Formats: sequence, structure tokens, C-alpha cells
Amino acid sequence: MPEIRYNGRAFGIHAGETVLEALERQGEAVAHSCRAGLCQSCLMRCSTGMPPAEAQKGLKDNQKAQGYFLSCVARPEQDLEIGLPGDALRVEAAIAELARLSETVMRVRLTTAAALPYRAGQYVTFLRPGLSRSYSIASLPEERALEFHVRRIEGGQMSGWLHGQAAVGDTLTIQGPLGDCFYTQRDAAQPLLLAGAGTGLAPLYGIVRDALRQGHTGPILLYHGARNAQGLYLVDELRSLAASHPQVAYHPTLTPLDEAILGGKRDWKPWRGYFCGDPALVNVLKKKLFLAGMPMREIFADAFLPAAAKPAALL
Ligand SMILES: Cc1cc2nc3c(=O)[nH]c(=O)nc-3n(C[C@H](O)[C@H](O)[C@H](O)COP(=O)(O)OP(=O)(O)OC[C@H]3O[C@@H](n4cnc5c(N)ncnc54)[C@H](O)[C@@H]3O)c2cc1C
Ligand code: FES
Repeated sequence: MPEIRYNGRAFGIHAGETVLEALERQGEAVAHSCRAGLCQSCLMRCSTGMPPAEAQKGLKDNQKAQGYFLSCVARPEQDLEIGLPGDALRVEAAIAELARLSETVMRVRLTTAAALPYRAGQYVTFLRPGLSRSYSIASLPEERALEFHVRRIEGGQMSGWLHGQAAVGDTLTIQGPLGDCFYTQRDAAQPLLLAGAGTGLAPLYGIVRDALRQGHTGPILLYHGARNAQGLYLVDELRSLAASHPQVAYHPTLTPLDEAILGGKRDWKPWRGYFCGDPALVNVLKKKLFLAGMPMREIFADAFLPAAAKPAALL
């Protein structure tokens, strides 16, 4: 049975158990959310031994070389000495603004104690004691504060705190940034399709402004979907963005997004797509746009996976 050493203690890992599960069994609190190797909240660092390759999928080469790994999918076959990721990937932040964008969506602006290099559309993990959740970045790096759009979830721990108790000046830690859902100017004339429902707009709001800032000249179609009119937010701001940039077409819609987008006949082959928000919707859009001709390498997506419950054995 391989052994892990953490915080001055050593203990064995059961067959099939992940590092995260073993730590929780020992009563150690480690930040985590999706438990599926996707959100990277559970990042840890190995100082002795080699983390399993599948626990380093999606990490940058320099992070892999430094021994970082995702504890929720790490099933080690050798002894490891591990620790938390350290200050290099975390920064202290303070709430600078809380402003309601709709009945259920809060604009949260944070200032950080140290500069956080990021691209609009990436995401970070908010860390509070015993709690970690990911949120997409809606701001541009040159803006004074980081901006997020947080939907209130019934009984939600992080969104409930941000909508209910949090106040300007409160602090939290953020980890990241992560993700490759951001604008890169490979071809300024390439047509772009941006689509998301609910707070799936947050990264798209960052990406569309980043593309314009970088001088994108090709058409940009921005679809924001919602179940009802209250679910649409920033409508006036996006209408005026489109009015001042002829290449931008903004479509707020209550029609299911796949139907709204694929209703007309269009050759999607030259397009690049950004799809964000509800995981089921993101999957449908990826699949349907790919089948309609959009190359998979031109599709960038962030599915807002909810935090996974602890396995029954650990409750
Ligand atoms: C990469 C990434 C980016 C994300 N970006 C954003 C963002 O920009 N804005 C944003 O608002 N959220 C975003 N999320 C989702 C966010 O991380 C949280 O999952 C969400 O805010 C709920 O957390 P909570 O602590 O409030 O609720 P929890 O305490 O985790 O959940 C409370 C209860 O609600 C259920 N629940 C959780 N989410 C949902 C849901 N969507 N629909 C229905 N029931 C649900 C849970 O299963 C649980 O029973 C993102 C997620 C990922 C992985
Ligand atoms: S990647 Fe491990 S908890 Fe999300």
C-alpha cells in the first residue's frame, strides 16, 4: 500500500482511493469542488515521488515539472510527500464592489493584494475556509478590479454568502487563473460565435471586449440565452457595445440557444466558437456546431460544473 506524507504525518492509501479521499479520511481539509479533474481547485504539490500522469492532465508543463497534481484524481502507485500548492498560485483578494445585475445575478468586483496575470474568460477558484468554487473572469486585465457574475443558487454555500452576507472589504483567497477559454488573435478577420446561458455570459462579456480591444475585425455573434426575461442581464450595455462596433451582433434570446444559433443556414467551417455555462448546454452546442462544420480545434468551452458531493464512505 503506497504511503503519503502530509503535514508531518504519514498514512497509507487504500486500493482505488484518491489522495483527496485519503486526506479527508484522515480529517484533513483540502480545497476541492468538482472531484472530476476539471476545476483544478484541489491542486496540490508533490515534493518527493512522482504523481500519477492522469493527475497532471490539463496542467501547464511548468506546473507538471514542479510536481503539481490534482488530488481528486490522483491514485498513487508509489510513496509521495505532498503539500498545498503554496502562495505562488494563490493571492489574497478583497471585495471592492457588490452590485446586483438582475434578481439572481451579482456583479462581484475584487481587488488583489498582488498582480494576477490573466486573460478575460479564464476562471479562478474562490477559497474560503472549507469551501472552494470556480468563477469566470469577466474583466480585462487593464481594468482596476477583477469582475465576476455570480448567480444565486438556492442553498448555495458560496453564492449564498456572496448574495447574502458578504460585504465590501471582506477578504477571500483566489487560486488560478485557469482554463483556455479566452481570445487569441491568430486571425483578426475570423468570425467568432460566443454563446452562453445565465452567468455563462461572464466569460463571454470578457472575451468580446478583449477581442475588440485587440482589434478583431471579423464578425462576432454574441448569443445570451435565458429561460425568462429576468435571466437576461447587461442588455443595455451589450446593445450599446454592438451599436458602437458594427462587427458585433448581440442576440439576447429566450429560445433554446442551439435552435436560435442553428435556425439559419450558415457555413460554420471558418468560425471559432466559445461556449460557456450550464454543462448540458455546453455539450449540446459543442456537438451540434461540430456536426454543422465548426472544427473541434476551434471550439473553446467552459462548463460550469457544480461541486460534487462527498462519496458516502467519507460522510
Ligand atoms: C470552470 C467553472 C466556471 C464557473 N463560473 C461561474 C460563473 O462565472 N458564475 C457562476 O455563477 N457560477 C460559475 N460556476 C459555478 C460555481 O463554481 C458554483 O458551482 C456555483 O456558484 C454554486 O456554488 P454554491 O457554493 O453557491 O452552491 P453549492 O453549495 O455548491 O450547491 C448548493 C446546492 O445547489 C445545487 N446546485 C449547484 N449548482 C447548481 C446549478 N447550477 N443548478 C442547480 N442546482 C445547483 C447543488 O447540487 C447543491 O445541492 C463555474 C463553475 C466552473 C467549474
Ligand atoms: S479538479 Fe479536483 S476537485 Fe475539481
